[in-house]
Amino acid sequence: MEENPFREDDLSVRSRPESCTLVIFGATGDLTHRKLIPALYNLAADGDLPPGLKVVGFARREKTDEEYRAGLEELNREVSRQGHNDDLWGQFSQSIVYHESNFNDAEGYYSLKERLDEMEEAGASPNRLFYVASAPEFFDDILLHLKSSGLNENEKGWCRAVVEKPFGTDLKTARHLNQVVAETFEEKDTYRIDHYLGKETAQNIMVLRFANVLFELLWNNRCIDHVQITCAEPLGMEGGRGGYYDKAGALRDMVQNHLLQLLSLIAMEPPADLTADGIRDEKVKVLKCLRRLQGVEDVSENIVRAQYTSGTVNGKEVVGYRREDRVNPGSMTESYVALKIMIDNWRWEGVPFYMRMGKRLPKKGTEISVHFKEAPNVLFNALDGAEAMPGNVLVIRIQPNEGISLGMRSKRPGPAAMLQPVKMDFRYQTSFGKSSPEAYERLLLDAMAGDATLFARKDEVETAWKYIDEIEDAWHKSEDPPKMAEFPAGSWGPKEADELLEKDGRKWRRL
Ligand code: BG6
Repeated sequence: MEENPFREDDLSVRSRPESCTLVIFGATGDLTHRKLIPALYNLAADGDLPPGLKVVGFARREKTDEEYRAGLEELNREVSRQGHNDDLWGQFSQSIVYHESNFNDAEGYYSLKERLDEMEEAGASPNRLFYVASAPEFFDDILLHLKSSGLNENEKGWCRAVVEKPFGTDLKTARHLNQVVAETFEEKDTYRIDHYLGKETAQNIMVLRFANVLFELLWNNRCIDHVQITCAEPLGMEGGRGGYYDKAGALRDMVQNHLLQLLSLIAMEPPADLTADGIRDEKVKVLKCLRRLQGVEDVSENIVRAQYTSGTVNGKEVVGYRREDRVNPGSMTESYVALKIMIDNWRWEGVPFYMRMGKRLPKKGTEISVHFKEAPNVLFNALDGAEAMPGNVLVIRIQPNEGISLGMRSKRPGPAAMLQPVKMDFRYQTSFGKSSPEAYERLLLDAMAGDATLFARKDEVETAWKYIDEIEDAWHKSEDPPKMAEFPAGSWGPKEADELLEKDGRKWRRL
């Protein structure tokens, strides 16, 4: 095919990660210990880390470099997907130093600047990647201090910011944060993390859809009956999480970001090209077409919120949500939510997208299932059990056991005409012989490469909040709010969530 001069060159935007100094704000937190440092270590083990990369951990607690590294090592031993190798860790950890300061102490930023200048004079890369991973109440302070200390500009190299979630708690706060970010960094240098976009299978959704002729031709309301997205977690409020979670709830914690991102990838139109903006333009269009829920009645009809009560998960007895550590005993925060979402555009008119997510469900699993319409009811429907048998369902398993399977009906071998459900199954582990990289590995490399494709853009975040805010308003600001359902921990959610589908003549797929 001839090249189109109006089109961005897709391959040229996939540039190589460049060496830099990664400054992590919130360096003593769980995310740094469990995700960021192990991701860098895994990249080092695979030989994918740009040579000369340095890490500066910025946090309040008093620590020496050695103490800091020892704490990181302990967690890396526990979580690294590559296993922990003492020699490799010894080498890798030499690139990590600790910088002690309060987030709102200007002095700490000036001394950081001096430190970076010195490191650069001694040969470190002049590129600076600031990763804002502190508690969210410090995001503003950190960004503003980066600006006032002049850390956000460096004549000799680039300066970029990665901002962790939660990106605001509603539209107003997200807009404010976007403004603070924009005062310090240009949009092209801003990377809003949604780690679900870094998961291999989530990245594969676009390839599945747009690199295969088979699916895209059927990917519309003529052939698809409905779509389900489930994100289940057995975890509750371990490790003091209740403090954050009880202020957020399932809708803000997971739906505003991860689940709406997955929905956008499933529902978007083919992008004009594979540039970050080409793709994000199409994702935003989906979010703009979500049917708005207006008022309490609409919200009650289409959304179920619930909390777990005491129960048994993985053989262990657990307390109910309201009795969890740091959770208000009278809490009206949902630990579970199920939604029916309609997308008002040509492709999806009349096709419901059902989503559910919750804590203390029986097992860990995120999957998207695309349920195709029934074949015409003429030839095989008279056969025993054919009617109740699942038809064509395409399942995209985001995690665990990443893969894609297609459910079909087949003839059972033998003289009798009998149908049986069968599956074509693709598993990453079997096809590629290795486990997928962790989402943060890919995202860190992309930020070092200046590729924002897998990060949320300003308007994406704000459009998603607009949708969420209307639901939150119905729950928390109305006089007669929709009820809070309950279900025992370790079960698959409240009966009201089953009813949400039953009233449409459908059922949740079992994971
Ligand atoms: C985070 C949420 O963004 O994602 C957590 O704040 C949730 O509540 C986590 O547990 C789930 O991520 P993953 O990658 O384990 O599915």
